[in-house]
Amino acid sequence: MERLSSLLFLLVGLFASKWIIVHTQVSIPPKLDGFAYKNRPATTDSVMIEAFFDPVCPDSRDAWPPLKLALQHYGSAVSLIVHPFALPYHDNAFVTSRALHIVNKLNSSATYDLMELFFKHQEKFYNPPTFNMSRASIVNHIVKFASEGIGNSYYSAIESGFSDRSTDLATRVSFKYGCSRGVSGTPFFFVNGFLLPDGGSAIHYEDWRSIIDPLIGMKREEPPIHFFL
Ligand SMILES: *[C@@H]1O[C@H](CO)[C@@H](O)[C@H](O)[C@H]1NC(C)=O
Ligand SMILES: *[C@@H]1O[C@H](CO)[C@@H](O)[C@H](O)[C@H]1NC(C)=O
Repeated sequence: MERLSSLLFLLVGLFASKWIIVHTQVSIPPKLDGFAYKNRPATTDSVMIEAFFDPVCPDSRDAWPPLKLALQHYGSAVSLIVHPFALPYHDNAFVTSRALHIVNKLNSSATYDLMELFFKHQEKFYNPPTFNMSRASIVNHIVKFASEGIGNSYYSAIESGFSDRSTDLATRVSFKYGCSRGVSGTPFFFVNGFLLPDGGSAIHYEDWRSIIDPLIGMKREEPPIHFFL
């Protein structure tokens, strides 16, 4: 009897844990999260880099120029998807990430322009200079900043983007997607789905070359002969 009840207990436990797992799963977005660089579609024919950037993180800012240079070098052989990842200890990370989603929806070609603008004027959005600002005035400030950057005709569309719940949800999905991939800082990089070591720091141009050159070489001489795991 005792055995039976512990067996029952175990079964109930198993069911409960399965139930919990199923019900805490993030709902799957209709398309892959993130912003494709130059709207280049990510295909299995190119080397795919995924970068998790926080728009107000200095290390993300420093990681962008060498990566951009590498993308220019490889052209269509390499594709990039940037996922915004709002670090909770950066007060304006979520709101600036949301601005990227808003602008991406309005004109996807302008997303990277805005990201570069945030990187360039990042100090304005750090914690100390915005400590005494209300949430509303930070949002107003960002609406103004973003529309000056990508075109004043977007002002009211960006403004109403901040009261559109779907842009809030999209920014949450980006964050949850990062969590589900084990991202715990920025910048984090994945190449063809594999995490690069030393997450949280910028990768120099030469290092990108030494990561990607062999992959491109390997693809040319398919099938890979010396590929042991
Ligand atoms: C979208 O953004 C790109 C890049 O900033 C710009 O060249 C283009 O004119 C914009 N398109 C529209 C319709 O505003
Ligand atoms: C915030 O405002 C308070 C009261 O006006 C002031 O004493 C404080 O120095 C301000 N803090 C910052 C970081 O500006």
